[in-house]
Amino acid sequence: MQVLNAQIRDRGKVNRIEVSKNLPLSPAEQIRLGAIRLGADKAIEKVIESISSRGIAFVNGVESRTDFVNFARALGRIVQHPDSERAGVTLITNNHEVSNRDGHQGFSTQELFPHTDRSTTAKPPLLLLMTCSKAAPIGGVSTFVDSAALLAHIKAGDPELAELLFAPNTAIFHDRLSTYEGAIFEESAEGSVNIRFRNDRRGYFCAPLAAKFSTLTRAIQQCAFGYKLRSGEMVVLNNHRWLHGRTAFGGERMIWRLLVEPSRIHHRR
Ligand SMILES: [Fe+2]
Repeated sequence: MQVLNAQIRDRGKVNRIEVSKNLPLSPAEQIRLGAIRLGADKAIEKVIESISSRGIAFVNGVESRTDFVNFARALGRIVQHPDSERAGVTLITNNHEVSNRDGHQGFSTQELFPHTDRSTTAKPPLLLLMTCSKAAPIGGVSTFVDSAALLAHIKAGDPELAELLFAPNTAIFHDRLSTYEGAIFEESAEGSVNIRFRNDRRGYFCAPLAAKFSTLTRAIQQCAFGYKLRSGEMVVLNNHRWLHGRTAFGGERMIWRLLVEPSRIHHRR
C-alpha cells in the first residue's frame, strides 16, 4: 500500500489539488479536499470541467440512490448494462450466486485488475460513475490508471511494447453478447490516447503481446493509484481514458454503478 500512497501523491500534483505544504495531509485527505460537493453551486459544471481536463472527478455528499441517478441524468444519457436494473444502476456487491461466472468477478470479494467497462462493445460508454453506498471494513480500495501516464511509462521502458499496443488486431475481448477485435491504445479524434483493456478470462492477446504481457500488467500496477471511497463519495471517470479496478476486500461492500453517454463533455489534454 506504500506504493499506492506514493502514487496518490504524484496524482495529486498532476491534478493540481492545492494543498499547503505545511499541512500534514495524507494523500487520501488531499483527494477529499479536492472533491466537489454534490449540492454545491455549479457542482455539475465543476465535474464536467474536471472530466474534460483530467478525465476524473471525485464528488461527495451523495446521500441516496436517487441523488446518484439524478446526477447521472444531468450529465447525459444513462446506458443500460446487462447486469443493471431498470434505472441503469448496478449494485456491485459480493453475490455468490453470480460471482463464479466468467466476467462477473466484480461480484466476488476478489481483487479486480484495472480494466475498461464494457470493453467487448464497439463503443464503450464514455462515463463511468461509481458511488460508495457502504465501504468494506477491510480492503476494497478503488484503483485508477491514467492511459496517458501508462503510455509514457511504457514508452520509456519498452518502446516496442508501446508500438505493439497501438497495432490493430492485438486483442480480442469477448462475452456472450459482443466481441471487440482491435488495439489496446488508440489515438482519439481529439488527439488524446484512448485505452481499452481487461485482464480476465474474456481477454485474448496476439502472440507478440502475450510474450510481453507481464511487462504490460506490471506497468499498469506501477501506474495505479488507490483511493478508498467512503459512504456517500462518488468517482466519475472517462472510461476511454482511465482504467479502474479495486483491491480484494473483507465484509460487506456496496457500490452503485452507472454508465453514461454524456451530452456536454469536451476533451482537453
Ligand atoms: Fe468495472
